[in-house]
Amino acid sequence: MAARGVGMLACLPLYAQRSQVLRPTHRLLSCSGTVAADVKREEQSSRNVETGSEDRTPKKKFSEVQKERREQAQRTVLIHCPNKISEKKFLKYLSQHGPINSHFFYESFGLYAVVEFSQKESVTSLQNVTRTPSMETEAAIPFKSRFFNLKMKNPSSQTSEQSCIQSSNHSPPSNKKLSELLCYAESMDDQLNTLLKEFQLTEEDIKLRYLTCSLIEDLAAAYFQDCTVRPFGSSVNSFGKLGCDLDMFLDLDEIGKLNTNKTSGNFLMEFQVKNVPSERIATQKILSVIGECLDHFGPGCVGVQKILNARCPLVRFSHQASGFQCDLTTNNRIALKSSELLYIYGTLDSRVRALVFSIRCWARAHSLTSSIPGSWITNFSLTMMVIFFLQRRSPPILPTLDYLKTLADAEDKCIIEGHNCTFIHDLNRIKPSGNTETLESLLKEFFEYFGNFAFNKNSINIRQGREQNKPESSPLHIQNPFETSLNISKNVNQSQLQKFVDLARESAWILSQEDKDRPSPSSNQPWGLATLLQPSVLSSVSLAKKKRKKPASERIKNLLESIKSSSPENDTHTNGKRTVSTQA
Ligand code: GTP
Ligand code: MG
Repeated sequence: MAARGVGMLACLPLYAQRSQVLRPTHRLLSCSGTVAADVKREEQSSRNVETGSEDRTPKKKFSEVQKERREQAQRTVLIHCPNKISEKKFLKYLSQHGPINSHFFYESFGLYAVVEFSQKESVTSLQNVTRTPSMETEAAIPFKSRFFNLKMKNPSSQTSEQSCIQSSNHSPPSNKKLSELLCYAESMDDQLNTLLKEFQLTEEDIKLRYLTCSLIEDLAAAYFQDCTVRPFGSSVNSFGKLGCDLDMFLDLDEIGKLNTNKTSGNFLMEFQVKNVPSERIATQKILSVIGECLDHFGPGCVGVQKILNARCPLVRFSHQASGFQCDLTTNNRIALKSSELLYIYGTLDSRVRALVFSIRCWARAHSLTSSIPGSWITNFSLTMMVIFFLQRRSPPILPTLDYLKTLADAEDKCIIEGHNCTFIHDLNRIKPSGNTETLESLLKEFFEYFGNFAFNKNSINIRQGREQNKPESSPLHIQNPFETSLNISKNVNQSQLQKFVDLARESAWILSQEDKDRPSPSSNQPWGLATLLQPSVLSSVSLAKKKRKKPASERIKNLLESIKSSSPENDTHTNGKRTVSTQA
């Protein structure tokens, strides 16, 4: 959510604060040899997200995915475990409270288990036998949550029986590993799909995201009974990269609306409430109190910052056990709708996510995007650019938002704060595209297209899927699909846009040269996408282009020689620092 408040946030010392946030890598530990493991194995097409499949099985609606995941999270608990633990005994102990559907372990400054019971009652049963720790020097705030701490009654007798928990690493690949994987790929299409597979959120990561929202919802419910905390943004829109932040939306809209139709007779009962002068003030007050609550009572919630003066007020904190950087907002229903729209676009055609992930990684590798708010292009804007580009293909790969609106039925109708957010929800009713372009060609064309786009006069608009005259003078204008008078990339300055254009042109040029002379996979030399993710290669292209002294053919030949001779290790690391970030 960093981008929304950019204008107002600029004066806040977020850089320092944000950089302190702990971002542990999750080492997931598998759970073989148990009943839960069987269930897990079935589910565990672990690197498959629930979207973007090539098969023809019906695709789930966004609301269906959300509902299933939410319900699953409500039956799930998070347990901080001792490092040496017998998995078998642990599961047996928990099974006293009811059958377990699935579980997994991960390491994040300690060992944690995520355990999903079959029934919600099991959680209550476990809570009923859980004690509040008695502190010797400090005082504990007795908050009963679903985040537990498991202690051994007799640690020495247990360690000998400790089973070997098989570990599998689910953090994104190192730069070196990624470079190797990309070098050995058979085609550029294979490279783009490999990158997607390595960076997309895993099944476990998704579960942990929904569980974290559910735990925060329990806290917020202490004030607002029946509230809902929903994930939005890249955690759910199918474009999330491992390590991306967790955007949460505190939904208070359902409160008090549940039974209004059921009341009979001549009377209508309303809650006595406090009134404030505006929605914005109400939002600020609610987030302020929830921020306090997270800070004082929220187990594992640290570094709480209330950023209430931003355009979209938010509470930012780090959820230590999951390692997620969280942004909690409320009254932000349109963003949830944007997430649903992106989910539809990401799920309609399997090329979309592969292309978006590659462009996001490319942008990150060249510091076009950043986790710090500023004049950079955001991942959200980049995704919009890819969607727009895919709408412009012939035939189009993605439909326009206006077309999705024409397919909507009465149930899909949605107006939020006067903005028409109607579009079809059932993906299965959208006809697949007849376009058969390869990912390789799409990547090249993307760079060509935006390397030559008339940013000075045209606006990007996924609602209509065609360029329009810019209504204002911002260097980059990408129309907000629902609040159509807004520009989602208003923060981008001319020099950042120019950097994007230069890099796009250079990347297009490199790919066009490579066509003629591609190293063989066995040569272990970076090529295709691997070359594009190396900042040093692009800067050498830029330099070579600037010199322009030698005849073109000789220049190209020399440049290609220099690209080929650069080893992956040298190029993916600069002064020991990683250049391709694992975080979006
Ligand atoms: P990453 O977190 O970078 O992986 O991507 P993200 O899509 O989650 O972006 P971010 O966390 O910055 O924002 C979360 C969501 O808020 C986005 O997916 C959008 O739905 C919405 N959002 C972000 N920036 C803007 C903006 O400038 N305008 C509007 N209207 N919505 C935005
Ligand atoms: Mg986000």
